Amino acid sequence: MPRLPHLINAPFTLLSHGRRLTRTGGWMALLGLAMAGPALADHGRSMPAQVPKAYVQECAACHIAYPPGLLPSRSWRNIMNGLDKHYGVDASLDAATVKQLNAWLQANAGTSKRMAEAPAQDRITRSAWFLRKHDDIAPAVWKLPSVKSAANCAACHSRADQGDFDEDRLKHPAGLEPRWRRAWND
Ligand code: HEC
Ligand code: HEC
Repeated sequence: MPRLPHLINAPFTLLSHGRRLTRTGGWMALLGLAMAGPALADHGRSMPAQVPKAYVQECAACHIAYPPGLLPSRSWRNIMNGLDKHYGVDASLDAATVKQLNAWLQANAGTSKRMAEAPAQDRITRSAWFLRKHDDIAPAVWKLPSVKSAANCAACHSRADQGDFDEDRLKHPAGLEPRWRRAWND
């Protein structure tokens, strides 16, 4: 099985989503929607105010629910068309759910200039802006057992599961040595 260590964070993601779903109550659930964190004015990076329930249930089972604004619409289309071969795992869904989620992802995809090109492998973590934002991080940090993959946003962003990547909400992943902390401090 490829890359399974990455999935270690999944139960925590699911738990926090579960708590939020119960708190926000019944009528949103009836509409098939779940509340996300507040949509901050942060260039479309955060979660849209309304998130299909299926997105939280299906697309946050193995990793955080990535905000749609972090990839251009072409990348989301590629991802939704290839769920049976999803980065080495099978993430297939029924056709109706694929259609629903694809429509929502397209409608909320990133549109800024930096989204003009689909990144390699349709990965957020291969986008030019992502690499630029993280270029102060030492290569050894990405390999820490508490991180394992750049796609594991929650290792360093304490509210990643809510689509909040603000620098004020960074956390130190376990094992982060003082000499590697520069990117966290400025
Ligand atoms: C069965 C587990 C599983 C499910 C379900 C799943 N994914 Fe993934 N996803 C993965 C794995 C594994 C990776 C690769 C992670 C890595 O490289 O560390 C990944 C990577 C991604 C990436 C790229 C992350 C990066 O590197 O920038 C995106 C975007 C993504 N998934 C979106 C989705 C969407 C949308 C859904 C729901 C339709 C979904 N995933 C459902 C396992 C899953
Ligand atoms: C190993 C830790 C780590 C991981 C994993 C990580 N980040 Fe970051 N991220 C940082 C640090 C540290 C900064 C601040 C960098 C700086 O200011 O030099 C940052 C900055 C950012 C910023 C800019 C924040 C701002 O206010 O300008 C965004 C957006 C972001 N990360 C998104 C992501 C996303 C999305 C993922 C997962 C796909 C991710 N990061 C994974 C450590 C990480």
